[in-house]
Amino acid sequence: MHPGLARLSDMKQRGEKIAVLTAYDYPTARLLDEAGIDLLLVGDSLGMVVLGYPDTTLVTLDEMIHHTRAVARGSQRAPILADMPIATYDTPEQAVASAQRLIEAGAHAVKLEGGASHVPQIRALVAAGIPVMAHIGMQPQRVRIEGGYRVKGKTPAEAESLLADAHAIEQAGSFGLLLELVKADVAQSITAGISVPTIGIGAGIHCDGQVLVTHDLIGFFPWFRPKFVTPAADVAEAVRSAAAEFIRRVR
Ligand code: KIV
Repeated sequence: MHPGLARLSDMKQRGEKIAVLTAYDYPTARLLDEAGIDLLLVGDSLGMVVLGYPDTTLVTLDEMIHHTRAVARGSQRAPILADMPIATYDTPEQAVASAQRLIEAGAHAVKLEGGASHVPQIRALVAAGIPVMAHIGMQPQRVRIEGGYRVKGKTPAEAESLLADAHAIEQAGSFGLLLELVKADVAQSITAGISVPTIGIGAGIHCDGQVLVTHDLIGFFPWFRPKFVTPAADVAEAVRSAAAEFIRRVR
């Protein structure tokens, strides 16, 4: 296992928060690595913020491999977690075959969406020596089935089921858990109840770490910004004004 992945669990033990950002290309990976990011996620969110798809359900394994290779060239230190795109981990055998291609491309670990339902896939990946993180709560690959993005854990039944998922995932050997749009108190109970780190996005402040889509953090996708994001830069405006300045100079 990459030492940076093992470190995440030490950080949880020490109560030190884990910072995770997405990267899809060489310069972003290199800049985030140089800034000291703990983990780089080649998220299938690249489908939306880089490739212009309406959601993540059109992303292919070949696209993930292409971007994982670029990120691997850019990161000297931070471990790389690559998303398994939709329909590439329907069976344990398919999960291992797909994950191996992402590992060959330079990922140190993979992430799949699913909880107790995906224990066989998680066990197979762990048995093949591939570190895996599971993603529960809002699972973007289910957005078309569910008809939108909504907060999970609002009813006692949903909260119970998320807790059960978290325990099942931990027991299956996942090295971490991503909680997306999970009600903050439920995310807090999950975080306190399992030994592996939780990384939240729109899941409150009590997770062991936080992840954001870098384009949201730096204001590089101005056409949509999730409510829970406070941008730390306005790259879209910088690009627009640099382009306007170039056009002015050319004219
Ligand atoms: O694809 C992605 O970027 C994700 C986010 C929820 C962080 O999984």
